[in-house]
Amino acid sequence: MGINGKTRVCAIIGDPVEHSLSPAMHNAAFRKLGLNLVYLAFKVTKNELKDAISGARSLGLRGLNVTMPHKNAVIKYLDEIGSEAKAIGAVNTILNDQGKLVGYNTDGKGAMIALQENHISTDEKKMLLLGAGGAAKAIAFQAEQDVEELVIVNRTIETAEQLAELLWKKFGKKVKGKTLSAGVLKEEMETTDILVNATSVGMYPDINKSPVPSDLLHSDLCVMDIIYNPLETKLVKDAKAVGAKVVSGLEMLLYQGAIAFEIWTNCSAPVDVMKKAALSKLAEQGDID
Ligand SMILES: NC(=O)c1ccc[n+]([C@@H]2O[C@H](COP(=O)([O-])OP(=O)(O)OC[C@H]3O[C@@H](n4cnc5c(N)ncnc54)[C@H](OP(=O)(O)O)[C@@H]3O)[C@@H](O)[C@H]2O)c1
Repeated sequence: MGINGKTRVCAIIGDPVEHSLSPAMHNAAFRKLGLNLVYLAFKVTKNELKDAISGARSLGLRGLNVTMPHKNAVIKYLDEIGSEAKAIGAVNTILNDQGKLVGYNTDGKGAMIALQENHISTDEKKMLLLGAGGAAKAIAFQAEQDVEELVIVNRTIETAEQLAELLWKKFGKKVKGKTLSAGVLKEEMETTDILVNATSVGMYPDINKSPVPSDLLHSDLCVMDIIYNPLETKLVKDAKAVGAKVVSGLEMLLYQGAIAFEIWTNCSAPVDVMKKAALSKLAEQGDID
């Protein structure tokens, strides 16, 4: 559908956003379904956030994705926050519902759907989650509702402990927060079913780094690395080499995007089309700097 007087806009705001795969993913989906929507990327600095949200309101944008560094700061400019986003303290999707801006967080659900779609069941499983930053927190909130046991390890122990305590208070289920160290990894990995890397270790340009020594990986393990740049991290390569099941960060990106798409359009997301568009954008971009 061509752009006309009735075309509505969705966009991602963040800093940086130039290499975001979301415009390719969402525009391909809008085209596939013949929706009169277009998706853009706007670089918005911290100082510009308030004005950007006010602008989105005045211009009647249909929806926004919010990325670093605004996921937390944006909350104070919205009219309503979904319960999950409120608990996590981070919004990655905004719906403009007839002038009311409603904030959601689709990261955690996106990660869990990525596991399901790759036939990885979380029932009665132990998940070892590396990291306690924004993405880890969103994943932890979803995972805690599904897995038998959750262990969160982070370089900064205090953040892991705070997250574990928050989850314990909210869900009343067993959860541990520990330091990301060789000793802890060795101890925890022996009984882990699902390993999720939600740290930025291994992300471009540090592509030869992995948060987990390769000798701790085994073939019974499922490994999801939420980093998608590079598409295949060292952790994913090491996991594949020992015969473990792997899920790339692109899958989480895809499903968090699919949920956002459904929030804005009330239509089922054409996931295959979105994946193809994201992969071809990645191939076109090569390494992202
Ligand atoms: N696939 C997706 O859809 C998706 C969505 C969101 C994010 N991501 C990716 O997930 C990663 C984390 O994003 P985020 O938003 O959660 O960032 P964040 O809030 O800044 O958290 C970063 C996490 O990485 C840890 N970390 C950073 N450098 C480390 C190092 N050298 N050694 C050990 N731990 C280290 C931090 O530990 P400390 O607390 O000790 O600093 C923290 O736990 C990024 O690579 C991002 O691109 C992917």
